[in-house]
Amino acid sequence: MKVSIISASHRHNSQSKKVSEFIFHNLLRLHSNLDLFSIDLAESSLPLWSPDKKNGEGIWGETWSSISENFNNSDGFILIVPEYGGMATPAAKNLFLLCGNGEFSHKPGLIVSVSSGNGGAYPIAELRSSSYKNTHIMWIPENIIIRNVEEFNPGSHGKNIPDWLDRRIDYVLNLLLAYASNMKPLREKVNRKDFGNGM
Ligand SMILES: Cc1cc2nc3c(=O)[nH]c(=O)nc-3n(C[C@H](O)[C@H](O)[C@H](O)COP(=O)(O)O)c2cc1C
Repeated sequence: MKVSIISASHRHNSQSKKVSEFIFHNLLRLHSNLDLFSIDLAESSLPLWSPDKKNGEGIWGETWSSISENFNNSDGFILIVPEYGGMATPAAKNLFLLCGNGEFSHKPGLIVSVSSGNGGAYPIAELRSSSYKNTHIMWIPENIIIRNVEEFNPGSHGKNIPDWLDRRIDYVLNLLLAYASNMKPLREKVNRKDFGNGM
């Protein structure tokens, strides 16, 4: 089974990247045979969607094809998204426009939001309401919010990270994997091009 982990910060060496690396290793600890693909949208610097994408030139050639293929081969997704201005990041929203080839279609997704303070709820509300129409991503009914994310250091968390958070993360990662394996047969019954753009 393959899972893609996407860090949707705009900053290099971000807190989201830190969390995505932790999730990468934690998933392997839980299930060592998983195939994982990890991408940091700050490093990959994908441009905003434009009609040029169709031409397949420049970044839309090999670079994008490889990302798209990794997503296409994935059975589930984990999106780590910081709250910027009470919103999901533009990089996160852009990705849902770029993935127009069924990459996310009828596959489970887990949203992990991060905030340096007490925020983190808005990106979840925003993504749950607006990212699924054309991509057909299925956000699972659990999410994770990591508040005071600078203090999130598994093994030596700061005092503002609750004791139960590590157990909660394990529970939700296992839940995502259960959805990922059980939704595979569902995709065999769906022609994603029927009413491909939602309503
Ligand atoms: C442009 C910008 C806007 C931000 N807006 C919010 C916000 O609305 N709510 C919040 O809780 N934190 C906000 N923050 C603080 C972020 O939660 C904090 O910087 C966090 O580390 C960002 O994650 P990152 O390191 O993965 O980019 C903002 C940070 C930036 C850079």
